[in-house]
Amino acid sequence: MLAIVSSATLYGINALPVQVEVNTGEVGDLRFITVGLPDAAVKESNDRVMSAIANSGYKQPYTRTTINLAPGDIRKEGPMYDLPIALGLLASTGQIDIPHLNNYLIGGELSLSGQTRPIKGALALAILAQKLGKAGVILPPKSAAEASIVSDVAIFPVNSLDETVQFLTGKIFIQQLKPPTKPIEKSTKQNYEMDFSEIKGQFSLRRAVEIAVAGGHNLLMIGPPGAGKSMLAKRIPTIMPEPTEAEFLEILSVHSVAGMTRNENIDSSYRPFRSPHHTISDVGLLGGGTIPGPGEISIAHNGVLFLDELPEFKRSTLEVLRQPLEDGEVTISRSAGKITLPCSFMLVAAMNPCPCGYLGDPKRECRCSPPQIQRYRSRISGPLLDRIDIHIEAPSLAITELRDEKLAESSKILKERIIISRKIQIERFQKTKSTCNARMNHAQIRKHCHIEKSQGDLLQQAMEQLSLSARAYDRILKVARTIADLDSKEKIDSPHLLEAIQYRSLDRNLFY
Ligand SMILES: Nc1ncnc2c1ncn2[C@@H]1O[C@H](COP(=O)(O)OP(=O)(O)O)[C@@H](O)[C@H]1O
Ligand SMILES: [Mg+2]
Repeated sequence: MLAIVSSATLYGINALPVQVEVNTGEVGDLRFITVGLPDAAVKESNDRVMSAIANSGYKQPYTRTTINLAPGDIRKEGPMYDLPIALGLLASTGQIDIPHLNNYLIGGELSLSGQTRPIKGALALAILAQKLGKAGVILPPKSAAEASIVSDVAIFPVNSLDETVQFLTGKIFIQQLKPPTKPIEKSTKQNYEMDFSEIKGQFSLRRAVEIAVAGGHNLLMIGPPGAGKSMLAKRIPTIMPEPTEAEFLEILSVHSVAGMTRNENIDSSYRPFRSPHHTISDVGLLGGGTIPGPGEISIAHNGVLFLDELPEFKRSTLEVLRQPLEDGEVTISRSAGKITLPCSFMLVAAMNPCPCGYLGDPKRECRCSPPQIQRYRSRISGPLLDRIDIHIEAPSLAITELRDEKLAESSKILKERIIISRKIQIERFQKTKSTCNARMNHAQIRKHCHIEKSQGDLLQQAMEQLSLSARAYDRILKVARTIADLDSKEKIDSPHLLEAIQYRSLDRNLFY
């Protein structure tokens, strides 16, 4: 007899419908065949499902059994078909009779004992079920909680195969999960373990970071070892404004598909902060693989990607970052299909000025030869540097500064100022795709970054002296806009512009 159960497969951050068709014949030897482009994890499903069925008190099929995952031209990945296959087997062998089985979208991994385990991409499944007009979605509890954010579709959490059967045959009642009353629960606690007040000195670095976070600008910190670059970068999450609901849903979609929500809860008041090691592969960074999934740049979507020791990354790896940095999305083509994933992140990078780290240090002598320095810097191309709005030098700290017991300005105070400037930006970009100053397109720069003729002359002169590229022009205007916003000024004044120009001066000093 043939039984059909609805499930889904992930494609980028979206889900596509999959029909799990199970047919058990009346005669023939026991033989299991799974067709429809399954990957290894799907094929292994047979063993788990058979054990789960036996341990839940049902009979295993004893004749030839064919499982088809349709459509056959899309790859199916992972163990999420365990539960639909088990239900299909029970229905096709006549052990259960559920007339409306197909009305539900079902996904879940099974343990050998028949308990359910969370799956990747539950949020995408719920969105698909809503689109398809399904009566509900059946998921393991942890995945169900995640899916319940989609408010217009009924989500039923199930703990085991047997519980699912009891529910579907009407023997037990399962309360559908309500979406969180406030659409997303915000945690009120603000007890970070790290705080900006611990950072001593480095006033210009702190200022540059404040501007960068306020406007969502990419930032490069250059300074000797021990200046506090890594220390500061790690504290950036403590001053980031909370994501809006729409932004949080996007973050959650990517993290759900990356399988991160299976094990940890994502706090809706934090933006992602990702800090991949410099040995990361291109696929790890950009995304991809045989079944294209999100990489670090997408996991950092709406948050921060921190690349510490920037020149240690392979030059080719840094080059492939250029396009996604510009577009806010990344397209991955693989044999299994071409997908586009969001990756609108703020890039924060740190590097030493030379291989030994002490070039230009007043206290220590640099031991690097000019060719060594040249090689070190040439790993970061001009075009990549162009895309980083703010470059800032972090000098080594004086002992007196380190000994200073006074606490510096706290994250809380910085964050308050940043939130005020973000509010100005949100109002400015209402009904447009931009979310912050750094994301302005050319037309928006024209509209919102107007400068007087005398200021234009000033900028032109600076650009000529520093031999800056045309791209730098727009970047300076955007940064000047943010500085004016932090100053609560509607018009960009000359001091704003001059400060913004300063953040490009490394173009000339360090890279040519
Ligand atoms: N500005 C600073 N204020 C307080 N401590 C600092 C500062 N800079 C460095 N330190 C101390 O030195 C350690 C190393 O700093 P780190 O951030 O790793 O430097 P970098 O990344 O620039 O090489 C920090 O963990 C911290 O204890
Ligand atoms: Mg460091």
